[in-house]
Amino acid sequence: MELHVVILAAGKGSRMKSNLPKVMHEVGGKPMLAHVIDTATELNPAKISVVVGHGSEIVESFVAKNYEQERVRCVQQKEQLGTGHAVMQAADSVAPQEKVLVLYGDVPLIQSNTLKTLVNTASSEDGDKAPLGLLTVCLSNPTGYGRILRNEQNQVIGIVEQKDANPKQLNIQEVNTGFMAIPGDFLIEALPKLNNENAQGEFYLTDLVALAEQGGIPILTENPITETEVEGVNNKLQLANLERCYQRQLAQDLMVAGATLIDPERIDIRGSVQVGMDVFIDANVIFVGDVVLQDGVSIGANCIITDSTIGVGSNIQPFTVIEDSVVGSQCNIGPYARLRPNTELKDQAKIGNFVETKKTVIGKGSKVNHLSYVGDAEIGEGVNVGAGTITCNYDGANKYKTVLEDGVFIGSNTALVAPLTVGSGATVGAGSVITKNVENDKLAIARAKQAQISGWERPKKNN
Ligand code: UD1
Ligand code: CA
Repeated sequence: MELHVVILAAGKGSRMKSNLPKVMHEVGGKPMLAHVIDTATELNPAKISVVVGHGSEIVESFVAKNYEQERVRCVQQKEQLGTGHAVMQAADSVAPQEKVLVLYGDVPLIQSNTLKTLVNTASSEDGDKAPLGLLTVCLSNPTGYGRILRNEQNQVIGIVEQKDANPKQLNIQEVNTGFMAIPGDFLIEALPKLNNENAQGEFYLTDLVALAEQGGIPILTENPITETEVEGVNNKLQLANLERCYQRQLAQDLMVAGATLIDPERIDIRGSVQVGMDVFIDANVIFVGDVVLQDGVSIGANCIITDSTIGVGSNIQPFTVIEDSVVGSQCNIGPYARLRPNTELKDQAKIGNFVETKKTVIGKGSKVNHLSYVGDAEIGEGVNVGAGTITCNYDGANKYKTVLEDGVFIGSNTALVAPLTVGSGATVGAGSVITKNVENDKLAIARAKQAQISGWERPKKNN
């Protein structure tokens, strides 16, 4: 049996009060729709159809950019005439032998295990007809949802929407989550039978359930593991609530993996974080993209770390920003340091406060401790770069490289005008502007000589 996933993502989401299509709003730094597509992908479906409508250019270009066209395709629903109408738009690509799994682009935290259970249930071969699977949940407050109707034998016979329900039906607590697994042959036959004669004047996908019952198709239900999985987003309050649920889950995963979080409520992961043993993470740290924290790493409060690896035992002090960088073991960085893309720190390097690095390798045990910019540089082992040193790597048109060989000592407030090489063991006097290469072990000084002028008087105030 082949699986065809249909993701409904055409709705406007007016309550989001946003120009961005609803399904493009992010949870954990990733559009809700991408969460749904990625989760669906875990089921290894033959194809995924995304029904797009409002803001379809944005949604379609996102899908085209991030997914293979053979696997995930978009179909247009020009007017949003209901969930049944949405599925009709994908109908011509549905094959009779397929199982169609309907998902929602604005219900991002659905788990693949729950979907697998639903699909398996709908694939059981007890009767002569393939069953229809419904994901339902019992809610203490079912307001707003479609209610599941059952007969005396407790068999599902239909779904009634909130707006169409009578007072007795409104008391039913078992609701439709919207997730459905539908046999392809039945879907093809039943979709044209849907009508819009109801309180909302919409073509309801939920009306398929009564049609299935009439057609002798078994209707089987499953429940999600948690309610969060089936929660949809209609406004930014619900978005924020789901974001926290998602973050709480990722924080739990980190702690189970051995990390100590000073406060699991104050961490943000927009991507993935891999941790070794005895990793410590202080409050308000943000991780973006793929981050690896090896054994014994400590991350101070308010750091932002993006697509980087931090080596064993390194200590990142508060307010440090690291992007696309590799930090070796036993390094000490910050507070208030900024490692820009392509920074590589070898073991035991030190980067202090208000130091910015970019496209730079800093050798083992070397230090740039205060107030510096180091860009397009290659720094050897055991180098000391004094406070306020700047690599002048840019002439307004091109960028040039600065090389500081092993054991170099750069005095404070030095301007290193690239291209430039300072030979191993050389020393540069404080306040120098170095424009030419310095030979090994020499002392280079390039600054005006100090003079003492006698008889000089400070200006006096005119009255
Ligand atoms: C739907 C179900 C209801 C269920 C609830 C769960 C129907 C008729 N009702 O109601 O039983 O309890 O979900 O949340 O199915 N969409 C389209 N095109 C359309 C209409 C909707 O793509 O023409 C998309 C929306 O963008 C949204 C999803 O389908 O992602 C659900 O639509 P919505 O109008 O929110 O359905 P509900 O009224 O909540
Ligand atoms: Ca509706």
